[in-house]
Amino acid sequence: LKKSEMTNSIEKKPHAVLTPFPTQGHINALLKLAKLLHLKGFHITFVNTEYNHKRLLKSRGPNSFDGFTDFTFETIPDGLTSMDGDGDVTQDGPSLLHSIMNKMHIFFGELLARLHESAIAGLIPPVTCLVSDCNMPFTIQAAEEHALPILLFSPSSACTLLCVLHCHALIQKCFIPLKDESYRTNGYLDTKVDCIPGLHSFRLKDLFDFIITTDLNDIMFEFVIHVADRVHRASAIVFNTFNELESDVLQALSSMLPSLYTIGPLPSLLNQIGHNHLESLGSNLWKEDTKCIDWLESKEPESVIYVNFGSVAVLTPEQLLEFAWGLANSKKPFLWIIRPDLVIGGSVVLSSEFVNEISDRGLIASWCPQEQVLNHPSIGGFLTHCGWNSITESICAGVPMLCWPFFGDQPTNCRFIYNEWEIGMEIDSNVKRDEVEKLINELMLGDKGKRMRKKVMQLKKKAKENTSPGGFSYMSFEKVIKEVLLQQY
Ligand code: UDX
Repeated sequence: LKKSEMTNSIEKKPHAVLTPFPTQGHINALLKLAKLLHLKGFHITFVNTEYNHKRLLKSRGPNSFDGFTDFTFETIPDGLTSMDGDGDVTQDGPSLLHSIMNKMHIFFGELLARLHESAIAGLIPPVTCLVSDCNMPFTIQAAEEHALPILLFSPSSACTLLCVLHCHALIQKCFIPLKDESYRTNGYLDTKVDCIPGLHSFRLKDLFDFIITTDLNDIMFEFVIHVADRVHRASAIVFNTFNELESDVLQALSSMLPSLYTIGPLPSLLNQIGHNHLESLGSNLWKEDTKCIDWLESKEPESVIYVNFGSVAVLTPEQLLEFAWGLANSKKPFLWIIRPDLVIGGSVVLSSEFVNEISDRGLIASWCPQEQVLNHPSIGGFLTHCGWNSITESICAGVPMLCWPFFGDQPTNCRFIYNEWEIGMEIDSNVKRDEVEKLINELMLGDKGKRMRKKVMQLKKKAKENTSPGGFSYMSFEKVIKEVLLQQY
């Protein structure tokens, strides 16, 4: 091809730049959306932080992100002082938030300038739209400066964003700030919240917990306000949810946001539209231990409880022991993922007594291919921290849950699981082994467990209907491309 011909064919493609928030769950979800857009003919630039990209190269192999047609990876610094990509650890949250609010717009601006140069040189198509995690709001300003449409992606539930958008109202109604820390334990958090349309009988403790602060100058709260004050400037917002999960919340949100689309659950949408598309393109920051799949093969159908606390939650050594003995005493087979940085204060020490007790009944691994695990016929229940990806993946696999929410959006998600959808049960935050044992048995063998399994199977069916050709999420995905991303194309 002559250069002019090459330039012409390159220019024909729309080009989306996708920017995830730099933690595991957020990267996974946005990568799914990136693959879907790639399937629809977009040239993709996926932007990770340098720190995370180093970790991805380490966990997946040095050339694992090269050679994909029309799918490239770029990096920007995260602005944190330590750039050590050798650590298998989630970075300091408050420092990341500070950097996102104050520094990363500069790095992102420089990246867009580099992409512009490459487009002028005819190497890539010009950038035609931005798709960004709503927790990376500096991209909105960049879109305005470059007159590009910007689609925000909400990686959590719609309810989380509803809470965020009501933080000013919660201040006005004097729900927050809490007078002091004692208000977290004196029953005050049981107060019903009546100023958020779309939520029924929610208590303060069910809300997105970055909002429940004693100090309005706290960086977590500052970040929430920072996001709340900017999202309405986006061209549109897309949610990884579906109508049957959050209909009242979505209804309430539709009058607050410029334009809203629900395209979830993403695991199901990707499966329907492009099963196996770019399958080798993975995003695990920790190295996967795949021997757990062989181990699952040896177990009876729906007999194994799968335990995973996601990518950010941490446990005290005491909590770890309560879970360990609850699992052991339940006498059920279990697969437990213990991340290298899961336990506060360092390495995990499980006694030889525990190891002897579980023998081949339990398998502990450091990271697994979670979606593959959840879809394995041997899995009968999921003990989860209630991250939104874990929940949507569990629904898509038809697996009921035991919930031990840690922070952020997880208490809200947990409330939906046990109260609205009735597909799981909650473990007390002050976890005790007897309760863990009892609830595992109830989930795996009891009548309540059976009812929950039935309900989650119904939701799985709804998820599939939504994401099948002609379904609501499927159609919304088509619409958001046409109405937002190709708007100027
Ligand atoms: C946090 C928030 O709570 C969540 O709502 C938000 O969407 C992302 O950040 P996180 O701890 O990352 O949660 O959990 P989750 O949302 O469940 O995401 C974890 C992801 O890592 C899932 O996609 C899961 O499949 C994957 N994973 C986790 C693995 O592939 N293997 C593992 O061993 C553990």
